[in-house]
Amino acid sequence: MNRQLLAFVLALIVAVSLAACGDEPAGDGAATPAAPSSEAATPTDAPTAPASPAGPAEEAAALYSANCAGCHGPSGGGGSAPAIAGEDDPDSIREQIREGGDGMPGFSGSLSAAQIDALSQFVADKLR
Ligand code: HEC
Repeated sequence: MNRQLLAFVLALIVAVSLAACGDEPAGDGAATPAAPSSEAATPTDAPTAPASPAGPAEEAAALYSANCAGCHGPSGGGGSAPAIAGEDDPDSIREQIREGGDGMPGFSGSLSAAQIDALSQFVADKLR
Protein backbone atom coordinates (compact mmCIF):
# COMPACT_ATOMS: atom_id res chain seq x y z
CA MET A 1 0.00 0.00 0.00
CA ASN A 2 2.69 2.46 1.07
CA ARG A 3 4.90 1.40 -1.74
CA GLN A 4 2.15 1.70 -4.23
CA LEU A 5 1.31 5.13 -2.91
CA LEU A 6 4.95 6.11 -2.99
CA ALA A 7 5.30 4.85 -6.53
CA PHE A 8 2.18 6.71 -7.53
CA VAL A 9 3.39 9.93 -5.92
CA LEU A 10 6.81 9.56 -7.51
CA ALA A 11 5.25 8.89 -10.87
CA LEU A 12 3.06 11.91 -10.41
CA ILE A 13 6.04 14.09 -9.48
CA VAL A 14 8.00 12.85 -12.46
CA ALA A 15 5.05 13.37 -14.76
CA VAL A 16 4.43 16.86 -13.46
CA SER A 17 8.06 17.89 -13.59
CA LEU A 18 8.45 16.44 -17.06
CA ALA A 19 5.35 18.27 -18.18
CA ALA A 20 6.59 21.45 -16.52
CA CYS A 21 10.02 21.07 -18.05
CA GLY A 22 8.48 20.32 -21.38
CA ASP A 23 6.24 23.37 -21.23
CA GLU A 24 8.59 25.88 -19.71
CA PRO A 25 11.31 26.03 -22.33
CA ALA A 26 8.70 26.14 -25.06
CA GLY A 27 6.60 28.77 -23.32
CA ASP A 28 9.50 30.90 -22.13
CA GLY A 29 11.45 30.30 -25.26
CA ALA A 30 8.63 31.65 -27.35
CA ALA A 31 7.71 34.48 -25.02
CA THR A 32 11.20 35.62 -24.02
CA PRO A 33 12.56 36.63 -27.41
CA ALA A 34 9.27 38.32 -28.33
CA ALA A 35 9.01 40.39 -25.17
CA PRO A 36 12.57 41.79 -25.03
CA SER A 37 12.57 42.54 -28.74
CA SER A 38 9.35 44.54 -28.48
CA GLU A 39 10.63 46.17 -25.29
CA ALA A 40 13.91 46.88 -27.01
CA ALA A 41 12.05 48.51 -29.88
CA THR A 42 10.10 50.76 -27.54
CA PRO A 43 13.07 52.34 -25.71
CA THR A 44 14.76 52.76 -29.09
CA ASP A 45 11.69 54.56 -30.43
CA ALA A 46 11.04 56.51 -27.24
CA PRO A 47 14.29 58.49 -27.22
CA THR A 48 13.87 59.06 -30.94
CA ALA A 49 10.43 60.63 -30.53
CA PRO A 50 11.40 63.13 -27.81
CA ALA A 51 14.62 63.80 -29.68
CA SER A 52 12.69 64.96 -32.71
CA PRO A 53 10.71 67.67 -30.91
CA ALA A 54 13.93 68.81 -29.25
CA GLY A 55 15.69 68.67 -32.61
CA PRO A 56 13.40 71.06 -34.50
CA ALA A 57 13.55 73.58 -31.65
CA GLU A 58 17.33 73.61 -31.86
CA GLU A 59 17.15 73.59 -35.61
CA ALA A 60 14.77 76.55 -35.51
CA ALA A 61 17.22 78.50 -33.38
CA ALA A 62 19.98 77.71 -35.84
CA LEU A 63 17.74 78.64 -38.77
CA TYR A 64 16.91 81.91 -37.07
CA SER A 65 20.58 82.76 -36.54
CA ALA A 66 21.42 81.87 -40.11
CA ASN A 67 18.47 83.49 -41.89
CA CYS A 68 16.88 86.11 -39.72
CA ALA A 69 19.22 87.42 -37.05
CA GLY A 70 21.19 89.50 -39.55
CA CYS A 71 18.20 91.80 -40.05
CA HIS A 72 16.09 91.30 -36.96
CA GLY A 73 18.85 90.92 -34.39
CA PRO A 74 20.11 87.83 -32.58
CA SER A 75 17.15 87.78 -30.22
CA GLY A 76 14.61 89.53 -32.40
CA GLY A 77 15.18 92.94 -30.87
CA GLY A 78 15.61 94.53 -34.25
CA GLY A 79 18.52 95.71 -36.33
CA SER A 80 18.28 96.85 -39.90
CA ALA A 81 14.73 95.46 -39.74
CA PRO A 82 12.11 96.07 -37.09
CA ALA A 83 12.00 94.09 -33.86
CA ILE A 84 9.99 90.91 -34.09
CA ALA A 85 10.35 89.89 -30.45
CA GLY A 86 6.85 89.82 -29.04
CA GLU A 87 5.26 88.73 -32.31
CA ASP A 88 3.06 85.91 -31.10
CA ASP A 89 0.83 84.88 -33.98
CA PRO A 90 2.53 81.90 -35.63
CA ASP A 91 0.21 82.10 -38.64
CA SER A 92 1.07 85.66 -39.58
CA ILE A 93 4.74 85.04 -38.83
CA ARG A 94 4.66 81.98 -41.06
CA GLU A 95 3.05 84.04 -43.81
CA GLN A 96 5.68 86.76 -43.47
CA ILE A 97 8.51 84.23 -43.61
CA ARG A 98 7.03 82.56 -46.68
CA GLU A 99 6.20 85.65 -48.64
CA GLY A 100 8.47 88.32 -47.18
CA GLY A 101 7.63 91.77 -48.41
CA ASP A 102 8.49 95.40 -47.68
CA GLY A 103 12.19 94.79 -47.61
CA MET A 104 12.12 91.25 -46.28
CA PRO A 105 12.91 88.38 -48.63
CA GLY A 106 10.50 85.47 -48.81
CA PHE A 107 11.84 82.12 -47.70
CA SER A 108 9.35 79.76 -49.32
CA GLY A 109 11.93 78.90 -51.97
CA SER A 110 14.86 78.30 -49.64
CA LEU A 111 13.29 76.77 -46.52
CA SER A 112 11.01 73.77 -46.29
CA ALA A 113 7.47 74.10 -44.99
CA ALA A 114 8.56 72.24 -41.85
CA GLN A 115 11.46 74.62 -41.33
CA ILE A 116 9.19 77.61 -41.78
CA ASP A 117 6.71 76.10 -39.31
CA ALA A 118 9.50 75.54 -36.80
CA LEU A 119 10.74 79.11 -37.28
CA SER A 120 7.25 80.54 -36.82
CA GLN A 121 6.89 78.65 -33.55
CA PHE A 122 10.36 79.73 -32.52
CA VAL A 123 9.64 83.40 -33.17
CA ALA A 124 6.25 83.21 -31.44
CA ASP A 125 7.44 81.22 -28.43
CA LYS A 126 11.08 82.12 -27.87
CA LEU A 127 11.54 85.69 -29.00
CA ARG A 128 9.91 87.84 -26.40
C1 HEC B 1 16.99 91.24 -45.41
C2 HEC B 1 16.52 91.52 -44.09
C3 HEC B 1 15.53 90.54 -43.48
C4 HEC B 1 15.69 89.21 -43.27
C5 HEC B 1 16.87 88.35 -43.65
C6 HEC B 1 14.51 88.76 -42.59
N1 HEC B 1 13.62 89.79 -42.41
FE1 HEC B 1 11.85 89.72 -41.45
N2 HEC B 1 11.51 91.61 -41.96
C7 HEC B 1 12.39 92.47 -42.59
C8 HEC B 1 11.77 93.76 -42.78
C9 HEC B 1 12.41 94.97 -43.43
C10 HEC B 1 10.47 93.65 -42.22
C11 HEC B 1 9.41 94.72 -42.13
C12 HEC B 1 8.41 94.45 -43.23
C13 HEC B 1 7.24 95.41 -43.09
O1 HEC B 1 7.45 96.51 -42.64
O2 HEC B 1 6.15 94.94 -43.42
C14 HEC B 1 10.34 92.30 -41.72
C15 HEC B 1 9.21 91.83 -41.10
C16 HEC B 1 9.16 90.60 -40.44
C17 HEC B 1 8.04 90.17 -39.67
C18 HEC B 1 6.75 90.91 -39.44
C19 HEC B 1 6.95 91.91 -38.35
C20 HEC B 1 5.67 92.67 -38.09
O3 HEC B 1 5.75 93.62 -37.33
O4 HEC B 1 4.64 92.29 -38.62
C21 HEC B 1 8.37 88.95 -39.19
C22 HEC B 1 7.53 88.05 -38.27
C23 HEC B 1 9.67 88.62 -39.68
N3 HEC B 1 10.12 89.64 -40.45
C24 HEC B 1 10.34 87.45 -39.41
C25 HEC B 1 11.49 87.07 -40.06
C26 HEC B 1 12.08 85.78 -39.94
C27 HEC B 1 11.55 84.66 -39.07
C28 HEC B 1 13.17 85.78 -40.73
C29 HEC B 1 14.10 84.61 -41.02
C30 HEC B 1 13.48 83.48 -41.70
C31 HEC B 1 13.30 87.07 -41.33
N4 HEC B 1 12.25 87.83 -40.89
C32 HEC B 1 14.31 87.45 -42.16
C33 HEC B 1 13.67 92.16 -42.99
C34 HEC B 1 14.22 90.91 -42.95
